[in-house]
Amino acid sequence: MKRSRLTWYLLAALLALVPVGVRVLTWKISWSQPVDPAMAQAGEELFNHEWKPEDPLAPDGDGLGPVFNATSCVACHQRGGPGGSGGLESNVTIFTVRNNDGTTRQGVVHARAVRYQETLRHVHPELPAIARPALALLVPLPGREREAIPFPPGVHVSQRNTPALFGAKLIDDLPARVLLAQEKGQRLRWGLAPPESEHLPVGRAPRLTDGRVGKFGWKGQAASLADFVQAACANELGLGNPGHAQPAPLGKPDCRSPGLDLTLEQCDQLTAFVASLPRSVERPPETSRAREDALAGKRLFHAVGCADCHTPDLGPVEGIYSDLLLHRMGQELQGGGSYNGRPVPVPDAEPGEGPLPSEWRTPPLWGVADSAPYLHDGRAATLEEAIRMHGGQGTRSARQFAALNIAAKAQLIAFLTTMRAP
Ligand code: HEC
Ligand code: HEC
Repeated sequence: MKRSRLTWYLLAALLALVPVGVRVLTWKISWSQPVDPAMAQAGEELFNHEWKPEDPLAPDGDGLGPVFNATSCVACHQRGGPGGSGGLESNVTIFTVRNNDGTTRQGVVHARAVRYQETLRHVHPELPAIARPALALLVPLPGREREAIPFPPGVHVSQRNTPALFGAKLIDDLPARVLLAQEKGQRLRWGLAPPESEHLPVGRAPRLTDGRVGKFGWKGQAASLADFVQAACANELGLGNPGHAQPAPLGKPDCRSPGLDLTLEQCDQLTAFVASLPRSVERPPETSRAREDALAGKRLFHAVGCADCHTPDLGPVEGIYSDLLLHRMGQELQGGGSYNGRPVPVPDAEPGEGPLPSEWRTPPLWGVADSAPYLHDGRAATLEEAIRMHGGQGTRSARQFAALNIAAKAQLIAFLTTMRAP
């Protein structure tokens, strides 16, 4: 008797576990598509290739340009190895202009050109004819005299610093539902606080105009690695491709390429290379004393609320230290426009549409020790400065950090410096 009861219980338990089992199996399937090594190798060559106008690798198009920011991917993505982050010198300049009729015009002021050089004057006639404005001309930098140029009303010019691409495949493979669950969890945790909160760390998942959830870019503006790579080819190098047309120079809208520079296969090869880059790692310090400090710093990281947004694990991705959600980071950190034209820029927009000027996707902190300078435009030279500049939803946590004693601050920083490029 007893025996058959047990069998029934076991059977019931098994049945109850079926949905979980199916989930686990399909999860694995949707999750770990390995990168084709031959594709990645071909992509590596394209990533390191020095592009030229009329480049032989782009036989159908005009090659590099007509406007571009650099001559190779690796020229910007290079700190800590190919695919790493970039310095201020490779910042990308972005503008948004609100027209009189309420519509907006946005784009990139490219640093270089084959023929028609773009400058800030193309953005607005009152601005100087500078092609590569130093960051100090756009925002006040710590410890520097204020030298920012005044901008006419409705004109926003900001820059984007080059992020590291290590571990991008883990983010690419992350199902959108993980971000949506994260969003819900944060709202519940703070008593159903809305994402419009300027103070509580309640983020929102970036939603693109086509309904997909954004995971890449400082504003979470691209849903997949392949999309971002195609946009980067066009915007950074002027390599038009089936996913993204090459930009015409500002002031020369009729400048057209004879054909596409890259095939879809070449774009896929580049994506495969980026996807093959190993993830960043947590490297504990050598001495046991230093290890204890870093461990204490990790506890402080949680205690002062850093982990509310920089969540250590996201779904199956361990040690990413990001929720990949957009957070309102305050007036000082505003920056309008979007790097790759999607989604529509919306200064003064209703929440729920594209990202606001003050909204940024929490950057993963893996590898952060090797990716200075920090924040979306690289205005923070050090980790301390980056923390101090957290406004809006990050204010409370930054204040708690500021209130720590010197030794505790050093411990938290010591923890951050264990996060190294691979
Ligand atoms: C002029 C410097 C520069 C060059 C050249 C460049 N990038 Fe980038 N890259 C950036 C910047 C800046 C960003 C951040 C843009 C943003 O989020 O608005 C970025 C972001 C990315 C991202 C998204 C990373 C993330 O986690 O959000 C990918 C992928 C990428 N680049 C790939 C490439 C590839 C592939 C090439 C070559 C075709 C390339 N980049 C060339 C500066 C550069
Ligand atoms: C409300 C969410 C939130 C909280 C809380 C928060 N951060 Fe951030 N953090 C962000 C966002 C969003 C950015 C990007 C802002 C920007 O680029 O303008 C950022 C940027 C950073 C950066 C720069 C990373 C890079 O690659 O440029 C560091 C370092 C950092 N945070 C550490 C911390 C630490 C340490 C704490 C706790 C004292 C903390 N953050 C608390 C959301 C948060």
